Amino acid sequence: MGRILVTTALPYANGPIHLGHLAGCYLPADVYVRFQRLKRSNCIHIGGTDENGVPITLKAESLKKSPIEVATFYHNEIKSELTSIGILYDNFGRTSSPLHHKLSQDIFLRVYEKGYIEPKTSTHFFCSNCNRFLPDRYIEGICPYCSSPGARGDQCDVCGRWLEPVSLINPTCKLCGATPELKETKHWFFKLDLLQDRLMEWLKKKTNWKENVREFALGWLKEGLKPRPITRDLSWGVPVPLKEAEGKVLYVWFDAPIGYISSTIEWAEKKGNPDEWKDWWTSEETRLIHFIGKDNIVFHALMWPATLMAFEDFILPSDIPANEFLTIEKKQMSTSKNYAIWLSSWLKEFDPDSLRYTLLSNAPERSDSDFSWNDYMGRTNNELVGTYGNLINRTLQFIDKYMGSRIPHKGNLKAEDMELLQKIKKLAKEVEDAYENFSPKRATEKFMELAREGNRYFDYSKPWELNKTDNERLSTVMWVTTSLIANLGLLSEPVIPFTAEKIRNFLKIKEYRWDDLGNLLIHEGTILGKTEILFEPISNEKITIERRKMMGNIIKFSDFQALDLKIGKIKNAERVEGTDKLIKLLVDTGGDTRQLVAGIGDVYKPEELIGKNIVVLLNLEPKEIRGVESRGMLLAAVHDGKPVLITTDTDVPPGCVVC
Ligand code: MF3
Ligand code: ZN
Repeated sequence: MGRILVTTALPYANGPIHLGHLAGCYLPADVYVRFQRLKRSNCIHIGGTDENGVPITLKAESLKKSPIEVATFYHNEIKSELTSIGILYDNFGRTSSPLHHKLSQDIFLRVYEKGYIEPKTSTHFFCSNCNRFLPDRYIEGICPYCSSPGARGDQCDVCGRWLEPVSLINPTCKLCGATPELKETKHWFFKLDLLQDRLMEWLKKKTNWKENVREFALGWLKEGLKPRPITRDLSWGVPVPLKEAEGKVLYVWFDAPIGYISSTIEWAEKKGNPDEWKDWWTSEETRLIHFIGKDNIVFHALMWPATLMAFEDFILPSDIPANEFLTIEKKQMSTSKNYAIWLSSWLKEFDPDSLRYTLLSNAPERSDSDFSWNDYMGRTNNELVGTYGNLINRTLQFIDKYMGSRIPHKGNLKAEDMELLQKIKKLAKEVEDAYENFSPKRATEKFMELAREGNRYFDYSKPWELNKTDNERLSTVMWVTTSLIANLGLLSEPVIPFTAEKIRNFLKIKEYRWDDLGNLLIHEGTILGKTEILFEPISNEKITIERRKMMGNIIKFSDFQALDLKIGKIKNAERVEGTDKLIKLLVDTGGDTRQLVAGIGDVYKPEELIGKNIVVLLNLEPKEIRGVESRGMLLAAVHDGKPVLITTDTDVPPGCVVC
């Protein structure tokens, strides 16, 4: 049987996992792997952490720890985070392992002996105070293009340009602040130009690849590849295996992808079949698929294949389905500014499947996409709770309550039943297609469509009426619905595996197999397992609180000044008709008397509010709440989910500025 070897980019072991990592590569890969497992393909998922290079040493220095301590800490952290969001790995290795070091050195040597690597002398910054050569990221100075201070040797974060460290104005050493000097040093260059034609020929054939990946790589090739240094003056990493290269290590991007191989070797060893890795890496019957984010394209589509070509024994990537970036509320994520949503804080508050679903149904497959809290709330409440969860709950509860918790018997199908069963088969084919072609996004749309069909069928068939009039028909309708939800569980397993597993248990399905789709997944007379609600709706308040907790979102002082906050005195208060929570307030704000609507009715009685001073945000856009206009917002603390009004310490006149 053919083999499918799936890899996911090895994250640097210098920080935890955030939503960008997940949307860019880990979730799409996991969906693909789970889909292949359902099909019983011979597929393994290989990953691990990238533990060499400057990103690790920088973090270690900032924490005053050793690189290996930092790498070990984050390796464990990352591994457990990825596991808790349901990513399945066959092996999760480390590029600091002896096995990896040895393999990387062997590969370097072979490529060197074949004449693809040669030494050259060039000048680099050296800090005599720290007594070391400074990697690009260790040098800071004024950007020659936009004159902003704090530009790094490789890039200016303000104007976004790629820089040469020598072009920085007033360069300083990031570690000690001293001015570095230029000094000659020897490095080993990978002669990519020798492989230019082979790479071009190979890439041209990959017409089925995603356009973003192929165009990007071809663009580089058209400019012409130049020799690139693949060694560094650093004390952490894989030592260059040449006598004359003492004190130098391999460039992290040379050894990191080799981690895919070393991790596969580790997998085979653990399995007790140490030579099996060779089948996976040398046989043309293996499809090698690298899932990555777009910032890794050049390395996977050019540098890495070049290494593999130069080495000669190994197969080349079959596909590189790279995703674009995920922004958060329309802003680029930045870990240094702590503008990110970390997976671990996420999992403390929400369930993994709602995140998987949101990120996958809105994945940056062809262009950047945006995560917003409102979108997350909308997808969860409308789609997962309102459509998918609703169908499963109403079906199972009905069977529980009226049909003795047993899967009913099929009876005679009518045309409308057959039509629905046909629809399942058709959608199943479309979902399969989407998974196979790296589009979990399209798959989610399709299986949600099936859930909608199910709800429509349920509404239209009215089992609650049949229950009084026609037991035979009731039985058929509920059999059809149950069959549909069994299929729905299976179809959606790659995207929302925790939920699919619950459905499998409710329906006592022994195992999910893709081949069983549309056929007999359920059996008449089976007694349902214990059922439970699948998804919880999410409230606006919860979102507001979490948004603030999770994103150390720093605003400018001028942003704060833009808020028109004043003291208001409550003149009148009454409940908004037909609600328990909403209170309509008339507030004297000094300049005017205006109406606000506040959701404080479950804690405060209208009469006890009159006369109180409150803090009001005046320049908020007006909003209609239950048909009542609200012009501004009052501020309250939230304690145990309940509002507590913020008032003044002594009585002050309305209109006082709050700042
Ligand atoms: N550590 C790199 C990053 O986070 C990815 C390395 S992928 C590998 O951008 F191919 F090198 F493994
Ligand atoms: Zn220094």
